[in-house]
Amino acid sequence: MARDAAGWKRRNRHPAIATPLADKLAFAARTPILAFMSVNLVLVLNGPNLNLLGSREPEIYGHDTLDSIAAALEDQALALGIEIDLRQSNHEGHLVDWLHEAGARRCLAVILNAGAFTHTSVALHDAIKAITVPVIEVHLSNPHAREAFRHHSFISSVARGTICGFGAGSYALALDAAARLRQ
Ligand code: DQA
Repeated sequence: MARDAAGWKRRNRHPAIATPLADKLAFAARTPILAFMSVNLVLVLNGPNLNLLGSREPEIYGHDTLDSIAAALEDQALALGIEIDLRQSNHEGHLVDWLHEAGARRCLAVILNAGAFTHTSVALHDAIKAITVPVIEVHLSNPHAREAFRHHSFISSVARGTICGFGAGSYALALDAAARLRQ
């Protein structure tokens, strides 16, 4: 796993197979019919405390780590012909910036597990409304079956859809849903 200058995690286990995004964007820009199409990239954004998956309350969130989820998603993405970029931050502003980036890059979709910000963040709600990229809300657990303070999501009303309660499988289902958004 590589880290960029800010220390955010990025994975690309198949660099020799996947065409670098910069090449794809340059090709699209040179090709008028493609210039209006969104790229085949899905950002998988993870919020606070999800870096601790595997050791964090495993009876609720399971034993999968974010790295193992990323590895499984990359294999799935390769089979689907999609490029993914999985990131995690404990800081709300990073998630806002990455949603803006997804909008500017006209990504196919964003898969967003906002963690506890799901239940608090008007800023994430507004950021999702500000972009046209479809956002798929995911949760490992089923927040509706948990404490009352988890029953409200600021994400759900502006998301394309929500998948929750299937552990790491929620991410796999979300990536399949993202693939179905291609025309
Ligand atoms: C979570 C559910 C949230 O309520 C919680 O704050 C999390 C994880 C999930 O994936 O189940 O951090 O988003």
